[in-house]
Amino acid sequence: MKTHRIAVLAGDGIGPEVVAQGLEVLRAAARKFGFGLDLVEMPYGTEHWLATEEIFPDQAFASLQEMDAILLGAIGDPRAPVGLIERGIIGRLRWDLDLWVNLRPIKLLDAKFCPLKGKGPADIDMVIVRENTEDAYVQKPEFLHQGTEQEVAQQAMLYTWKGTERIIRYAFETAMQRPRKHLTLIDKANAVRAQSLYTRVFAQLAEDFPEVETAHLYVDAACMRMIEDPASIDVAVTTNLFGDIITDLGAMLQGGMGVAASANLRPGKVSLFESVHGSFPQAAGKNIANPLATINAVAMMLDFLGEREAASAVEGAVASLLLDGRIRSLEVGAHSTTEIGAMVVSTI
Ligand code: IPM
Ligand code: MN
Repeated sequence: MKTHRIAVLAGDGIGPEVVAQGLEVLRAAARKFGFGLDLVEMPYGTEHWLATEEIFPDQAFASLQEMDAILLGAIGDPRAPVGLIERGIIGRLRWDLDLWVNLRPIKLLDAKFCPLKGKGPADIDMVIVRENTEDAYVQKPEFLHQGTEQEVAQQAMLYTWKGTERIIRYAFETAMQRPRKHLTLIDKANAVRAQSLYTRVFAQLAEDFPEVETAHLYVDAACMRMIEDPASIDVAVTTNLFGDIITDLGAMLQGGMGVAASANLRPGKVSLFESVHGSFPQAAGKNIANPLATINAVAMMLDFLGEREAASAVEGAVASLLLDGRIRSLEVGAHSTTEIGAMVVSTI
């Protein structure tokens, strides 16, 4: 029997509650499909930092290299300075483990979950490939004369050819695996000229993938297009910051933050799976947060671990509960966190 070693970081806010349900589903899949689980729970997050001043100890971080995958709940808590724990945990995981792909699928299962008038599942089925290791995210902020009227603040947007090439190549390969084979590049190279690197590398790689039909949108127009004609987007590739922004928009198209999941991948190496949503501190401990985003992240993790049957069983269970109305709505509080978890487990 194959055993998968998984580090579990439940994190802040609703993280522990939604991760608990994700793990119930994972264990149910393991029982049903006959694989083993070696779960290593790690306590890092704001609570741990408040108690110990430790964000992510180096030894624990190094031990992640021996894992097959990482499941993350959510990070962020108003009791810590803005960005400290986010950058120290999510940021460090992405950058120091070189998780260079942030894969965010957006798939609408039923028109009733979509806030757009007259749009259904045929219109909304896309994959956003977000670069995950460069851009303003990894640059040092600099402040001059802080707190005065002479203040100057800056944080560069930095792109390398290597970082750009690998993410665009990955997006072309992703497009090749889909029936439409269509790839849109989203950048803002008309204003941020440094992003012409994306435009140039994209044009160059397109020659290696003649079967893929390509398109190009500036990020402002991409926002408009995702609302007006989402069916025109199949796979899209974009920079780290723009990918962050448009995937929240995309999450709303498929029913909201309650269902949106993502994979932070370093292909072939330890990779991380998480919801797109944040820690939602106002809902923490109330058993009202929707665990489906984490459960969908578990499905992506199973697929990555080679447990394809288990992955489709989890995906299928979620889809059937949403389609046959057993999950009435994706609004917060429509069902309790534990109730949704239990429904998915019994469906599997
Ligand atoms: C996300 C989150 C993070 C990001 C935050 C928590 C730093 O919004 O995963 O989308 O900006 O990448
Ligand atoms: Mn985000």
